[in-house]
Amino acid sequence: MTTEPISPNVPSGTGAATVLLALSLFFTSSVAAAVSQPLELQEIMQELGKQMRFVAGAISREDWDAVASAAPKIGKHRTPALSEKARIMAFLGSNAGQFRAADRQVERAAMKMGVAAQRRDGAAAINAYAEVQQACLACHQAHRQEFRAHFYGNRP
Ligand code: HEC
Repeated sequence: MTTEPISPNVPSGTGAATVLLALSLFFTSSVAAAVSQPLELQEIMQELGKQMRFVAGAISREDWDAVASAAPKIGKHRTPALSEKARIMAFLGSNAGQFRAADRQVERAAMKMGVAAQRRDGAAAINAYAEVQQACLACHQAHRQEFRAHFYGNRP
């Protein structure tokens, strides 16, 4: 943030006005920054991304135990705090059902991947992994852009 230099030794009317202006600019910009704070959802998404990368590595090593233990972390990931959930649902409005369905799609595919890994069925685990990724992609294509526009004012 750039701030105008404020001289404390100027008791004139314009000096006070400058101080007030600087203060109001300061508060306006800090409020704007607070509004575009990343959603907790974004952090949850980063965790999902990390788990998916971990699973890809585990599949390459044929470490099925690792795949099986990561699967529920993807399928039953945590959700944002209630207040954020309410903001998201209010924003989604009539699309909330579709959003939830996309999340359930991820859950179903991830749990399927876990079961396949427990059976040490590599091919089935890989198919289910691809299904999980399709489900991630479907929700991103349907919602990510509008989320960015709404919650962050279209910042990339
Ligand atoms: C129900 C919808 C939905 C599903 C399902 C979903 N995502 Fe997301 N994802 C989003 C939204 C919305 C954003 C944008 C969030 C934001 O920018 O605050 C996002 C953003 C992301 C990001 C970018 C985070 C960042 O730092 O900008 C990653 C990585 C990600 N998702 C990974 C995944 C993975 C991996 C899966 C599947 C296992 C997945 N997502 C499934 C809705 C979804």
